[in-house]
Amino acid sequence: MNIVILAAGMGQRMQSALPKVLHPLAGKPLLSHVIETARALKPSRLCVIYGHGGETLPNLMQAPDIVFVQQTPQLGTGHAVMQAVPQLADDVPTLVLYGDVPLTSANTLKRLLQGAGSDRLGILTVKLAEPSGYGRIVRNQAGEILRIVEQKDASDAERAIDEVNTGIMVAPTIPLKRWLAALSNHNAQGEYYLTDIVAQAVNDGIAITSTQPDAIWETLGVNNKQQLAELERLHQSKLAHALLQQGVTLADPARIDIRGTLTCGRDVSIDVGCVFEGNVVLADGVNIGAYCVIKDANIAQHSQIKPFCHIEETSIGQDAKIGPYARLRPGTQLAEDVHIGNFVEVKNSHIAAHSKANHLSYIGDASIGARVNIGAGTITCNYDGVNKFRTTIEDDAFIGSDSQLVAPVTVGKGATLGAGTTLTKDAPAGQLTVSRAKQITISTWQRPVKIKKS
Ligand code: UD1
Ligand code: CA
Repeated sequence: MNIVILAAGMGQRMQSALPKVLHPLAGKPLLSHVIETARALKPSRLCVIYGHGGETLPNLMQAPDIVFVQQTPQLGTGHAVMQAVPQLADDVPTLVLYGDVPLTSANTLKRLLQGAGSDRLGILTVKLAEPSGYGRIVRNQAGEILRIVEQKDASDAERAIDEVNTGIMVAPTIPLKRWLAALSNHNAQGEYYLTDIVAQAVNDGIAITSTQPDAIWETLGVNNKQQLAELERLHQSKLAHALLQQGVTLADPARIDIRGTLTCGRDVSIDVGCVFEGNVVLADGVNIGAYCVIKDANIAQHSQIKPFCHIEETSIGQDAKIGPYARLRPGTQLAEDVHIGNFVEVKNSHIAAHSKANHLSYIGDASIGARVNIGAGTITCNYDGVNKFRTTIEDDAFIGSDSQLVAPVTVGKGATLGAGTTLTKDAPAGQLTVSRAKQITISTWQRPVKIKKS
């Protein structure tokens, strides 16, 4: 089928310079949700109508399978679909979706498409307790759909109808093109209404079917920040309940945010306030403490992430202990049983099994062997202001507290650095290296005394 996504409207009520459909829900633009659902239906053509906000939208959303068609000025939903007419193949039906209705399920749309088949007009409708603002579905005594009337054009009797048009429709393409060409804008809003094709279909003797979504929220649109926030919570709650269903322990399903894909093994537990972005995989028995932000990370079995950690583009081996207050930056690879403690930052570094950096350190551009102990306050000086250099620390080394390793530099296997060392040359394996002024005691020294004022 052809799919046309309407996304040209300006979304004034968002009070934002960003086009409405580019505002994020669960970390990605509203329009991306609609495009993903559209792709799940395997359309032969996928066409996005844009207008307000200029080229920002096609520049951001471009993809080989999408044709972007500009609609300027925006003269209504019917006018929007007209712009797509040259793109629409005649031999398959055309499905119209809205770029600001992000949560429609592919399942609901499949039922709509099946109901309509290749030669009927299908409309996705819902019954609302408060239908105000929507187009109403007008039916005859026999229950057959006659037309859709917009709120602003409706009589009092029509306004009492509680079945509304969600905006999502599918039509056989040849008559659709004919109906679009015949639309007029003689109505309360002076717009070309897509909804007017319904009365034309009735006139042409084309059968009309209606389908209801699995849930009403699937058809909710975003017009302002309040509705955006409501849909965000709704969507997050769905994701959280899917995790619970699957056996993940969530301290509070209302206090987790997933902006991407979170894959969990068995017996994973997640405390409150965590945010997961991009692609995150938590293997069996992983425990995430409160208020962690984790993006594009892979965490192996039984590792524990304590509260307040920030982890990005990192892989963590099994049985690791991270945090509280650890920051793992892109390119960090930790092997099994590595401990990274509070106020430790690691970037673009590999740390082998059983090594520990438990307190207040910066480890950047380093390769660290197995069973290494990094003392408190250790810093790899990886940057000379222009270039970055690597630090290598071999297996079983012991780095005394408050050491600076001025890269490029290597600490040999089993070497020990005395506390406070500023290492500028390689430290040989198996020996103690220390750079430190010798300690002296001055026995004759006396504390100063307060000078008396005369
Ligand atoms: C439309 C329907 C109404 C339905 C409601 C559901 C028409 C005439 N009315 O009304 O029956 O109940 O949606 O929310 O179709 N758009 C364009 N170009 C335009 C105008 C709109 O691309 O020129 C896009 C908007 O960006 C939006 C969608 O079409 O994604 C709907 O437009 P909107 O103005 O919100 O339509 P409503 O008046 O709410
Ligand atoms: Ca709307």
